[in-house]
Order: sequence, then structure tokens, then C-alpha cells
Amino acid sequence: MIIAVSGKGGTGKTVIASLLVRSLAERNAYDILAIDSDPDSNLPEALGVEVERTIGDIREELLEKRDSLSPGMSWRSQLEYEAMRAIVETRAFDLISMGRPEGPGCYCAANHVLREIIDTLAKNYDYVIIDTEAGLEHLSRRTTQNVDVMLVVTDTSKRGITTAARIKELAEELQVKFSDIYVVINRATAETKEKLQEYAREIGLEVIGIVPEDENVRRYDYEGKPLIELPDDTPALRAVREIAEKIAR
Ligand SMILES: Nc1ncnc2c1ncn2[C@@H]1O[C@H](COP(=O)(O)OP(=O)(O)OP(=O)(O)O)[C@@H](O)[C@H]1O
Ligand SMILES: [Mg+2]
Repeated sequence: MIIAVSGKGGTGKTVIASLLVRSLAERNAYDILAIDSDPDSNLPEALGVEVERTIGDIREELLEKRDSLSPGMSWRSQLEYEAMRAIVETRAFDLISMGRPEGPGCYCAANHVLREIIDTLAKNYDYVIIDTEAGLEHLSRRTTQNVDVMLVVTDTSKRGITTAARIKELAEELQVKFSDIYVVINRATAETKEKLQEYAREIGLEVIGIVPEDENVRRYDYEGKPLIELPDDTPALRAVREIAEKIAR
């Protein structure tokens, strides 16, 4: 199952994605791949792992030595081989980082390969969790094509939910297929959550979970501590666990 976490900038995509990895990893029953597909993301830090080479790095390296590649081995299979090596393995999950897309204006070749690698890799895992970049760009570039569950994280602004609606519309327009799309309201307070849920319903979106403002999340991020190590009973983690249960039912 491929789960993509999207939403506008700064809404908590990386927090939700990393807690989702933790929630699924806790069960000790699944093979999990986390994909960092935001060039500016800090998912590896949130998960407490270090990435040495990204897919972007590999692409650059291979483009540079394209002419001297061993004959008989295509650029593509070389890339696939290197991509496998770029996977960081931990006891609980694996992680791969996409790094930078190609220079401005041209995302095509890179993302074509990227997409295929995601598809190939995904087949080896029970759960793939993608932390996408902010906004809608990842949809038009189709880095998130074959997604089973699209989670759109929103802050408590109405605009956040509108972004969710736009992601849904755009996906339909671009014929990007995902089976389910849900909204996650992050940093909710008692007064905002009722109104936002109602608004979401009005525009035809289902809210799958509400994650409270969590002092520990703020503190861990502030101190640069991996979110994957948050206390077991911290409110945000408990909320994300419930979301994981609904998705993985
Ligand atoms: N539930 C929460 N409780 C407290 N702080 C939170 C919560 N969710 C997110 N934050 C804080 O909000 C900030 C943004 O979160 P995060 O980095 O996950 O957003 P993002 O959507 O991934 O951002 P970007 O678009 O830059 O990738 C972080 O400093 C994080 O600690
Ligand atoms: Mg992020």
C-alpha cells in the first residue's frame, strides 16, 4: 500500500509522515519504506537516519559518466542498481531520498525514472510512505502517480482544506489515480476542529484524523531530536496511530 502525505507548506506533512512510519513500524509485522520526495525535506532527520546519496545525486553522477558506462548495462538498469544501494536500512524501516529534481523547467526525464523506481521498489514492501513536497507540483510532475491513499494535511485554516479540495480536483484532471483521499487536520484545537470538519464535509472531503498540537513535537523539532523517538503516549502519536489503524484495516 502506497500512502502519500501532501498538503500546503508547513502544515505538518513531515511530522505526520514520520509518525505514520513509527505507527506502522510498531507492529513489527510489516516491511516499510519511507520515501522522502521533498527536495527540502527533513524526513530523514525526523526518522533519525542519515542519507548519503539521494536519487538526484545518483542521476547527476550517472549523467556525467554516461559515455563511460559499462557496455551492455543500460543507463536505466544502472540507475536502478544504484537506487537499490541508496536505500538506507534500519531495523524498523527503510528509507530512500529523492533529492533534487532536474534543473528548472525540466522535470520530465528525472521524474519518469523516479516514478518507475518508486513503482519497482514499492513492490518489495507492505507499506510505502511518501513525504511529498508542498503544494501541487508533485501531482503535475507525477511523482505520486500510483498512490493508494492520499493524505492531505491541513492546518486549521480554511485555506488548508481548500488546498485539499484542489489536490483532489487536480488529481482527477491529470488522471492521477489514487483510491482514497483523506484530510488530516493538524494542530487542531477544540474550537477549530468542529468547524473545519463541517467545512470539509461540505466540499466532499473525509477527515480521517485530527492531530492535536503537541508540545513534545514542537520541542523535539526545536532541539533537533528525531520524532521517531517521541514518547509512546504523546498525543500527536496517539492520533496518528488511530489514522494508521483506519488506513491499514
Ligand atoms: N501537531 C503538532 N504539534 C506541534 N507542532 C507541530 C505539529 N505539527 C507540526 N508541528 C511543527 O510545525 C512545523 C512544520 O511541520 P512540518 O515540518 O512537519 O511541516 P511540513 O508540512 O513538512 O513543512 P514543509 O512544507 O516545509 O515540508 C514544525 O516545526 C513542527 O514541529
Ligand atoms: Mg516537510
